[in-house]
Amino acid sequence: MRISVVGTGYLGAVHAVCMAHLGHEVSAYDTDAAKIDRLASGASPFYEPGFEEMLAEVLTTGRLHFTHDPKEAVSGAAVHFVCVGTPQSPGSNAADVRYVNSAVAMIAEHADSPGLVVGKSTVPVGTAQRLSDELAGTAASDLLELSWNPEFLREGKAIEDTLHPDRLIFGVTSEHAEKTLQQVYSRLIEAGTPHLTTDLATAEMVKVAANSFLATKISFINAMAEVCELVNADVVTLGRALGYDERIGRKFLNAGLGFGGGCLPKDIRAFSARAGELGASDSLTFLHEVDKINVRRREKAVTVAGAMLGGDCLGKNVAVLGAAFKPNSDDVRDSPALNVAAALHLKGADVRVHDPRAISNAKAIFPTLTYCETVEDACRNVDLIVLATEWDEYCAIDPVAFRSLVRQPRLLDTRNAIDRDYWVGAGWSVYALGRGAMAPTTKAE
Ligand code: UDX
Repeated sequence: MRISVVGTGYLGAVHAVCMAHLGHEVSAYDTDAAKIDRLASGASPFYEPGFEEMLAEVLTTGRLHFTHDPKEAVSGAAVHFVCVGTPQSPGSNAADVRYVNSAVAMIAEHADSPGLVVGKSTVPVGTAQRLSDELAGTAASDLLELSWNPEFLREGKAIEDTLHPDRLIFGVTSEHAEKTLQQVYSRLIEAGTPHLTTDLATAEMVKVAANSFLATKISFINAMAEVCELVNADVVTLGRALGYDERIGRKFLNAGLGFGGGCLPKDIRAFSARAGELGASDSLTFLHEVDKINVRRREKAVTVAGAMLGGDCLGKNVAVLGAAFKPNSDDVRDSPALNVAAALHLKGADVRVHDPRAISNAKAIFPTLTYCETVEDACRNVDLIVLATEWDEYCAIDPVAFRSLVRQPRLLDTRNAIDRDYWVGAGWSVYALGRGAMAPTTKAE
C-alpha cells in the first residue's frame, strides 16, 4: 500500500519506519528540511533504542522515502497519516492544533487520487469531526475521507509499541475507512492485536482517557508516598502489595519524582481545558489534583535535598544524575530531573548534571547548569548525589567505590531505584522519596 506520513517528529518518524518495515511504500514529509535530510541519510534526530537500525534496514529496501516536497509526499498515496505535534498553546493549557490543521489542508491541496486521511496526533475531542467537515468543503472532498487512529507509543519502547501494540483503535465514518485501516495493519491484526472500530469522538477520547488514567495512577501512588513519609511507611512495598491485586495491577505504581515528558503533563492539561470548553469542567477537576500532586513531588525533592545539605544549598556541590524525563530517552521536555537540578541551582548549589543521552537537549534549555561527561566527574567532591532519572548505569553504581569520590556520602534517591540497604551498609546517608531517611549503618572511613 502507498502511504504518506506527514510530520517526522518522534511519532511520525517511528511510524513511517514501522509502516515500511511492515511492507508498505512510504513517503515521509516534514516542513523541517534539515530533519528530513538527516533521516534520509539514515541518522536519527532523537535517541530511541532500535530506531536507527530499523531505519537503515528499511532504507535499503527502497520502500521508505523522505521528502520536503508536499506534492511528492501526498501524490498517489492511498493513506495519509497525520503525525504532527499538538504542543501546549502559549499562555493557556489548551492544545495548539495549528500543525494538524495545516497538515490536513496540505494533504487536501495536493491529493490527486482517492485516499484516507488518518489522524494520529493527540487532539482535543471534536477536532476530527471539525476537520472532516472542513475537508468536505475543499476541492478534494470527492477524494478524501478522514478517520482517527490514536497512537499509544511510549518513548524508549516506540518500535515495540508500534509493531506490537496493546490495541488498535479505528475511529471511522464508513466501512471503507475501516477496511482500509484493517489493510494497513493487516499483519498486526493477523498476529492477534485487538482492534476496535469506533466513531471519531470515541477514538479521540480513548487517547486522552488512557493518558489521564496513567497520570492518575502515578499521582495516586505519589499521594500515598506523601502519607507514607508522615507515618514512616514504605511506599515501594505498598506499591508492590497493591499490585498483586489484579484489579489494580503493578504497572505505573512506581512512586518517585512523578511524570514528565512531552505527553502526560500536556495532555491532561489540554483535556481539562477542552472539558471546560464543553461545559464539563467538573468532570475533570480531579486532573488538576493529579497535576498538583505531580508538581509537589519535584518540590519535595528540592526540600529534602536542602535539608540533606544542612538547610543551606549555597556553596554546596550537588550531582544530579539524569536529565531526561525517563530512562532510555534523550527527551527533556518537562523533565522532573532537570526541574530539580535548576531549582537547586537557583538556591545557590553548584549543580553538576550527568545524563547518558540527554545532555545536548538539556544544555539547550538550561545552559547555566554544569554538565559532566562521566558520572564520576559529576559526583567528584559533591555534598549530595540526587538520582533523578533511573538509568541502568546509575542503579549499578558501586557505593563503596563512590564513597571515596564524594565529599559527603549522601544520596537522595528520587526514583526508588537503588538498593538502600546496600548503600547505607557502605556508609551512605540515603533518603528515598516515599520511604524516608536511612542513616549509614557503617562508619565512613
Ligand atoms: C506516555 C504514554 O505511556 C503513552 O501511551 C503515550 O502514547 C505517550 O505518553 P511516555 O511519555 O513515553 O508515554 O512515557 P511513560 O513511560 O508513560 O512515562 C511518563 C512519565 O511517568 C515518565 O516521566 C516516567 O518516569 C513517569 N512514571 C511512569 C512514573 O513516575 N511512575 C511510573 O510508575 C511510571
